[in-house]
Amino acid sequence: MSAQLRFKRFEDAKITRKLYMVFYLSALIPLGIIISILYNIVFPKLPPDTVLMLKKVLVLTACLMWVSFTLIKKIVNPVLSISKEAKQIANGNFSQSLHTEQSDEIGELARSFNRITRDLEKKIEELEASKKLIQKLLQKVSSAMASPQGVDELLSLVVENTVAALEAKSGALMLVSPDDNEELQITSSFGLDEKKALTYSLKVGEGVIGWVAKDGKSIRATGAPLADIVIDDSGGAPEKSEDIERNFLSVPVVHKEKIVGVLTVMDKRAVHGFSTDDEVLLSNLASQIAIAIENSRLNEDIERTYVETITALAMAVEAKDPYSHGHSKRVGVYATKIAQAMGLNEDALKVIRDGSVLHDVGKIGIKDGVLQKQGPLTEDEYKVMCDHSVIGEAIIKPVHSLRQVADMVRHHHEKYDGGGYPDGLEGDEIPITARVLSVADCYDAMTTDRPYRKALSKETAKLELLKGIGTQFDGKVVEAFVKIVDKL
Ligand SMILES: [Fe+2]
Ligand SMILES: [Fe+2]
Repeated sequence: MSAQLRFKRFEDAKITRKLYMVFYLSALIPLGIIISILYNIVFPKLPPDTVLMLKKVLVLTACLMWVSFTLIKKIVNPVLSISKEAKQIANGNFSQSLHTEQSDEIGELARSFNRITRDLEKKIEELEASKKLIQKLLQKVSSAMASPQGVDELLSLVVENTVAALEAKSGALMLVSPDDNEELQITSSFGLDEKKALTYSLKVGEGVIGWVAKDGKSIRATGAPLADIVIDDSGGAPEKSEDIERNFLSVPVVHKEKIVGVLTVMDKRAVHGFSTDDEVLLSNLASQIAIAIENSRLNEDIERTYVETITALAMAVEAKDPYSHGHSKRVGVYATKIAQAMGLNEDALKVIRDGSVLHDVGKIGIKDGVLQKQGPLTEDEYKVMCDHSVIGEAIIKPVHSLRQVADMVRHHHEKYDGGGYPDGLEGDEIPITARVLSVADCYDAMTTDRPYRKALSKETAKLELLKGIGTQFDGKVVEAFVKIVDKL
């Protein structure tokens, strides 16, 4: 066996074995001395004085060997016990720590190892918490995305759940005004005074949040950038019992290198405030928010263009027929007044306003021969004409924000007794907006000239409406209209 191989075997040996090997090697010479002394004592050939001295050397050598063996054991034992405990920790038992009270290098090594283990344990706990947090957030955001509400609802849910998930008290999403890129306004918030939040604005570059919007860098610090509008249960003071300072985390909302807003969370219920993991999580969420906002703006643009196009279409249809000139505008005025007199809510009023302009847009799909016929329609022509409500609904339906308008357009020729078209709905089955529009539509048709008859007087038209109560019209709508019609 070569010397190199032997040395390699020594290097691979366990530490106890190594120490015993060193001990035996270093004990060889004293052992030789002991044996020669013993020999001289047993077979004395030397003078008594020399034998006495040898006896003393013997005792001393034996003592020194015992002392060096004990010392080696003392050095080796803590190393062995540390190695055993470290093995358990490496196997995942993080509750274990290395035990040593020694002040030497071995003690320092053990204490360093304990510190590293504690840090590691904390990191693992934080990672576990982050993992749960992300799962919880993803779940809530996914369900919000599947909800029928628009992007505003989604953003509110994201802000609310982010605040909860990061164990903060409040949060806000401020968007840069797309018109001038100079002002930040709160779009969604949680834990803030709603009234104040609605009117709260900041200049880009103003205050901490304004700085984030200008510089595009996150800030994690102590303080309260929106202190004036935070609803604070603790009366504006930090929770002294836990000795928590007010703290916040603000991240920019960036889309295609353009800063579109700032997402801020405030007052984390933890001694050290927001962590770097929180910052990473919030930044990731801000990226998703930026995409959602951009998509929503694109959709809004597309919808606006589409609505403008179909409104132009409706105007074009009306322009084709000189008898219906100004019809949808007048219907809009009558229907809105009826809705106000009946005390309908703002949503219904908006549907009626938008729907009045578009209610006959489906006539674009009706042949000119039928649409512009100078005289009463035949039965077949009437059937063709009836399709305009269904065609109108199909034209409007793709616009998400006009779903209720599409419904109203489909049913604006239904009759209260179920004798109308296209679905033969009756009574309250007909949307209230369509019942209102029906009265306004018929009143305008009666009070304007038609190819086959002259316009009826207001009084005659009113009587016709009253006659139609319960059959063609909803009594509540007609009664509300006849009360106000003379003032129009
Ligand atoms: Fe119509
Ligand atoms: Fe009409």
